[in-house]
Amino acid sequence: MAEAEKVAVVTGGGQGIGKGIAERLLRDGFAVVLAEWDEEAGNETETELHSLGRVQFIRTDVGDEGMVKAAMEKTEELFGGVDLLVNNAGIMVRKPILDLSLGEWNRALATNLTGIFLCSRYAAPSLRMRKGSILNIASTRALMSEKDTEAYSATKGGVVALTHALAVSLGPEIRVNCISPGWIDVSEWRKRSERQKEKLTHDDHSQHPAGRVGKPEDIAAMLSFLVSPEASFITGANFVVDGGMTRKMIYI
Ligand SMILES: NC(=O)c1ccc[n+]([C@@H]2O[C@H](COP(=O)([O-])OP(=O)(O)OC[C@H]3O[C@@H](n4cnc5c(N)ncnc54)[C@H](O)[C@@H]3O)[C@@H](O)[C@H]2O)c1
Repeated sequence: MAEAEKVAVVTGGGQGIGKGIAERLLRDGFAVVLAEWDEEAGNETETELHSLGRVQFIRTDVGDEGMVKAAMEKTEELFGGVDLLVNNAGIMVRKPILDLSLGEWNRALATNLTGIFLCSRYAAPSLRMRKGSILNIASTRALMSEKDTEAYSATKGGVVALTHALAVSLGPEIRVNCISPGWIDVSEWRKRSERQKEKLTHDDHSQHPAGRVGKPEDIAAMLSFLVSPEASFITGANFVVDGGMTRKMIYI
């Protein structure tokens, strides 16, 4: 008997790293739901990836409980359940702390952290039944900072902690892991109206111990392993995929 099709929900799957992950999961044989806020990006990516397998855009704001609940119900109705939740949706807020409003702080928190709580909460019953897994996308900014990134860095530190908390609470049925990407160039993975040719310089690449800036495919490859049965002893862990940048001393 053929194995049942696995179903993945990828938040923010309409563009950037999430789109790269969605493409890889389709190639790996998953049906993919793009839980995406941007309608243009969601529709476009659904059409673009259509030839690779079953893919469905469901408009979702991950910070909105009603929309998350509805998206999980729709996924259940269309695909029968969830085997993998990829919490990828995220926004960058870069502003001096004295100019950062409470509203901007809360918006970063709602998307980058509360969104993971809500999606995990509403996907957990199905994931538990189907012995699935959750993969969160944090950032190397959970570990180190540039100026004026308090909101973003704090949410990403939260993602790493939420990952091990969920792994302990939801195991052994559900494994929960986290990838912290470094610099990943997504200019060619944006929706068509914002897509650009990659404009990286020699210095952009050569400062990385691995010799280059990252690509969505680098994150998708790590994810593909972490959600596979070969990774069944790995849970609660954070994997840095950054071309070595967080291991490089930069004192001048
Ligand atoms: N690109 C990088 O260098 C990098 C590095 C480290 C971490 N990350 C993380 O990777 C993830 C993806 O980043 P990216 O660079 O691909 O960004 P991106 O902006 O290219 O894509 C993010 C997608 O998420 C969607 N989104 C935003 N808010 C949403 C919401 N509330 N609900 C649903 N969808 C929403 C956007 O519409 C967009 O399609 C983010 O969590 C980001 O913090 C990116």
